[in-house]
Amino acid sequence: MKDRVIVLGSVNTDLVVKVRRLPQPGETVIGGTFYQNQGGKGANQAVAAARSGEKPVTLIAAVGNDVFGRESLAALQKDKIDLTHVNIKDGISSGVALIMVDECGENAIAVASGANAALSPADVTAVPDSVFEQASVLLTCFEIPVETVQVGLRRARQFGVTTILNPAPVPEHVPAVLLSDVDIITPNEHEIARLLDLPKIEDETDARTAAQRLLDRGVGNVVLTLGARGCFFAGAGDARYFPGFPTKAVDTTGAGDAFNGALATAISEGRDWVDSLRWASAAAAISVTRAGAQPSMPFRHEIEDFLRLQG
Ligand code: RIB
Repeated sequence: MKDRVIVLGSVNTDLVVKVRRLPQPGETVIGGTFYQNQGGKGANQAVAAARSGEKPVTLIAAVGNDVFGRESLAALQKDKIDLTHVNIKDGISSGVALIMVDECGENAIAVASGANAALSPADVTAVPDSVFEQASVLLTCFEIPVETVQVGLRRARQFGVTTILNPAPVPEHVPAVLLSDVDIITPNEHEIARLLDLPKIEDETDARTAAQRLLDRGVGNVVLTLGARGCFFAGAGDARYFPGFPTKAVDTTGAGDAFNGALATAISEGRDWVDSLRWASAAAAISVTRAGAQPSMPFRHEIEDFLRLQG
């Protein structure tokens, strides 16, 4: 039975400082609270998928043989994520993200990839066929090597698994063949501009043009995320804007991961686009009202309650 979600991605420990405003280059600002959270786009997305869904979630990832790695795995176990295919890489440190979050919830992030950069195509090839046979959706991102993402997408496609690529952060080069294995791509405005080497996305006409360019490159569907403004969908002969749910943001770190994880859940449940994008937008809207990446991922009942209140 195809009832599993696979997340292929990164695991980080987030070291966060709250600041009144983000510093300029060369500037020091005195910050407020410091906190340490579990993070990494892959791990966050796995948690978002597990909490928003009812299906098993398998994470394919890598951590170092160190305290941060062990703490990350312990946290993921609490969300009942299958960690059988998380590789422990000796002699490399686990991924770490240094994050500053300002008063408006905006952030700046620098990542030391560590073991994430060592997650190899061979690590994905080593995952037994049975895992892909049981899966309905594979969700991946670019916080791991591009070649590893490419092998993951290819393998998923070979087993009829729907593939979702969150192209964050956008690498220097994305092979054309990789995009043709993507059923759903979920860039934000900056990422789509970088992917296509375009200037800023200013309005809906720009969004439509950029999305069409990705469709022309073989991507199945484009979900361009626009933060609190919602998202622009293009695919299946359709192109339209879906409004979001404006909320008071405390910390936007991980909002994209909440969206992607919840989208993977909705797609794995066979929901239509309207329902899926509403579900994913609600998850993202809830996540920004809370501090931290992984701690902010909402549970299924919270998304249901939120949507019920929206009417
Ligand atoms: O998307 C948010 C994540 O990006 C953080 O948790 C941080 O680890 C970086 O990977």
